[in-house]
Amino acid sequence: MEVFYNQGVENTRLISDVERLIESLGPLPEPVAEPAFIVVSGLPGTGKSHFCGCLAERLPVVVLESDALRKALFSSPDYSSQESSRLFQACHLLIERLLKRGISLIFDATNLSERNREHFYSIAERLDVKLILVRVEAPPQVVYQRLMARGEDSQGKSDADWTVYRRMKPAVDKIRRNHYAVDTSRDITPVLDKIVRQVAR
Ligand SMILES: Nc1ncnc2c1ncn2[C@@H]1O[C@H](COP(=O)(O)OP(=O)(O)OP(=O)(O)O)[C@@H](O)[C@H]1O
Ligand SMILES: [Mg+2]
Repeated sequence: MEVFYNQGVENTRLISDVERLIESLGPLPEPVAEPAFIVVSGLPGTGKSHFCGCLAERLPVVVLESDALRKALFSSPDYSSQESSRLFQACHLLIERLLKRGISLIFDATNLSERNREHFYSIAERLDVKLILVRVEAPPQVVYQRLMARGEDSQGKSDADWTVYRRMKPAVDKIRRNHYAVDTSRDITPVLDKIVRQVAR
């Protein structure tokens, strides 16, 4: 009885979390028959959000940036495992709901472990949507410079710094599926072009 009650409370919370996230998104692109489902993966400061922003200028997609979504759910985030678990559960359901409505999206989060990415593999299989995976990288010295500069202006939505980068580095798993790799210390246009072409096909 207790178990059912707790499950009910958790589901109610999950649904209200997803509604809050949807409200935080602003205008969504027009629904299409075969929505694009793009997931980027990479350590802090490697240039994921920059890359997603460039892609969103060329494709009708909504960018789901985990840092922005976290702040929509938690006004002063503590980055605890409970907080992340609640956030990502809501993100997974949000992604599924948007794709079911035909909304193309990019999920911008570190997504470092294969265990994290399994959720996206299973959503894509369940909804029969093609998943485009992108591994975003940059040499550590470039990331270091960027994160130091970010610390000075702190305009972005991410709070991650060099200490967070170093702490997360051992968690990087190889992506076991086909994916694009982009080094953001070089020209990112060729990979952007390829993805735009793949989505148009
Ligand atoms: N291709 C690029 N060319 C020039 N500057 C870049 C490029 N990619 C990223 N940057 C700059 O590097 C900094 C970090 O990039 P960004 O915020 O996109 O990283 P991130 O991977 O999203 O980090 P986090 O995981 O913390 O959100 C930003 O100031 C961004 O403008
Ligand atoms: Mg980012």
